[in-house]
Amino acid sequence: MKLTIIGAGNVGATTAHLAALFGVAREIVLLDVVDGIPQGKALDIYESLPIIGRDCRVIGTTSYTETAGSDIVVITAGVPRKPGMSRDDLLATNAGIVKACAEQAIAYSPAAFYIVVSNPLDVMTYLTLKVTGLPRTRVVGMAGVLDTARFRTFIALELGVSVEDVSAFVLGGHGDSMVPLLRYTTVAGVPIEQLLPPERLAALVQRTRDGGAEIVAYLKTGSAYYAPAAAVVQMIEAVVHDRKRILPCAVALEGEYGLSDVVCGVPIKLGRAGVEQILELELTEEERNALQRSAADVRRTIDRMEELLQHHPAT
Ligand code: NAI
Ligand code: 2OP
Repeated sequence: MKLTIIGAGNVGATTAHLAALFGVAREIVLLDVVDGIPQGKALDIYESLPIIGRDCRVIGTTSYTETAGSDIVVITAGVPRKPGMSRDDLLATNAGIVKACAEQAIAYSPAAFYIVVSNPLDVMTYLTLKVTGLPRTRVVGMAGVLDTARFRTFIALELGVSVEDVSAFVLGGHGDSMVPLLRYTTVAGVPIEQLLPPERLAALVQRTRDGGAEIVAYLKTGSAYYAPAAAVVQMIEAVVHDRKRILPCAVALEGEYGLSDVVCGVPIKLGRAGVEQILELELTEEERNALQRSAADVRRTIDRMEELLQHHPAT
């Protein structure tokens, strides 16, 4: 299993580190445009393996030739948010970066499974699909696993229980209109609505929607990376070990949930073949409307991106 991670910043390097620790790849290639950074971080990670008792090859590079024949490619290249910025404010900068990365990666790894992380997530996933020309089963975006983990953490904190006993689903775009589904949220099988009053639930849903911004407000110079990297590694592991995990991921929809020609977070079955199934949960009218509103927000940003790329192809 050869894993390439494009972007050796906070998310990329942490993903490489966790991937090495969890032993999900035989070879990890960390690539960045800034010479020295991927080489230094990759060597540092490699040197941690004799201590930890893991063995995989970790290479840092600025050259796509080193990525040739990868099984999985993770795109984390781009700029993160600063306080006060929305994920959509990153569009102009990151569209150009992700387009260039996807074009080069696909030339060397045409059979890989692609996981997109760069923001605005759903739109960058859509862009990667278009640029690579891959089927939708081979390109997904990471956001739902992270947003769901945040929701689970906040519920666990509120109830004083283990995060492991909280199950939840957050669907929709990775933005302010994401859709935490209370009806599918349980603690050790008990529906959350039996455990917390509506006003506390509403507060936890809002904290989840603001989860990324909460970390940005603390860090000031960047955004979250430990939980995002853990989410990416869970997705990689599902593919590598053919786990058939049911995880919320951003995928291109072709009629599911009444949505088409848009990328949005929904539950999928993730295994060796990539996206093996898109699950259609039964939604109430209110939940369906919320998902449609979230997808409409993504669609508007895709339109803006297409306009940008048409008028400034070098964006
Ligand atoms: P960072 O600034 O620490 O790292 C980004 C890296 O990308 C830098 O090392 C930079 O040199 C590199 N880069 C820029 N242009 C490149 C190019 N053309 N080719 C290769 N590398 C290039 O940022 P961080 O924190 O790692 O975040 C990366 C992206 O992931 C951001 O857009 C951020 O918003 C997004 N993100 C998305 C999450 C999600 O849930 N989907 C969670 C966390 C971050
Ligand atoms: C987050 O939610 C930055 O989108 C990223 O933390």
